[in-house]
Amino acid sequence: MGKKNGIYSLQPGPIGIFDSGYGGLTIFDKIRKTMPEYDYVYLGDNARTPYGTRSFEVVYQFTKQAVMKLFEEGCQLVILACNTASAKALRTIQQRDLPNWDAGRRVLGVIRPTVELMDTVSRTKHVGILGTTGTISSHSYSMEIEKMFPHIRVTGEACPMWVPLVENNEFNSPGADYFVKKHLYHILSLDPKIDTLVLGCTHYPLLKDKIKANLPKEVTLFSQGQCVAESLQNYLTRHPEMDAKLTKSGKRRFLTTESTEKFSEAAFLFLSDEIEVEQVSIDR
Ligand code: DGL
Repeated sequence: MGKKNGIYSLQPGPIGIFDSGYGGLTIFDKIRKTMPEYDYVYLGDNARTPYGTRSFEVVYQFTKQAVMKLFEEGCQLVILACNTASAKALRTIQQRDLPNWDAGRRVLGVIRPTVELMDTVSRTKHVGILGTTGTISSHSYSMEIEKMFPHIRVTGEACPMWVPLVENNEFNSPGADYFVKKHLYHILSLDPKIDTLVLGCTHYPLLKDKIKANLPKEVTLFSQGQCVAESLQNYLTRHPEMDAKLTKSGKRRFLTTESTEKFSEAAFLFLSDEIEVEQVSIDR
């Protein structure tokens, strides 16, 4: 496994799942249930979370280090289960870095699979995106939707307090009510015709009940976990050469750049499972 003489191992390996912290576990949960036979390595950069308020360059550097680590762990395919990393780093990694590292490996994100479904889920063709400051200011969702479905109107709302509420296990608190109401009220006042609100940050599904309780009934809340899982499954059917490079013995490993105890405790909230965690360093 790993990097030998500067060249990443060509042995079949697990699927890598990366997030700045715990949020990607909401995506991993759906992926593992949809494709239980595959092996997975989850990496959370908890020591440097949140990414949502960081600059383009910093998110790119951090994400690149994470992908390199997952490649060293033998992953042939890495999913950026983080909207901020998908918005700010995916394209550069795909176009500039991958061809130099190993053209046979793949890195995929979460924005494209979400965008592809927007025309089907929205009746009014008015869609709202809730995300981190980084995701919203990158305009990645609006640009992708505009390319694919120019008739859909997109409104973005940055919710900078939502990730800290989840990371600090405060997502059921009265404080969370205030910040949830504040952003829902704001985005729906910007475009009252919105009928679909995308949880465009992998942390947000933990706030789902609170969000739903404060939304008009006619607005659908869209979580991306299932669509990312199905899109990955579909990708592997269309790319048997990649599928052949993936090991399938149902193994899971969890890596964090922060404390392992903290990670296993928090992961229980996302996965309802006891897990073993390894601490790693990825900055180089
Ligand atoms: N979970 C990440 C996302 O989907 C962001 C969390 C963070 O700010 O680090 O955008």
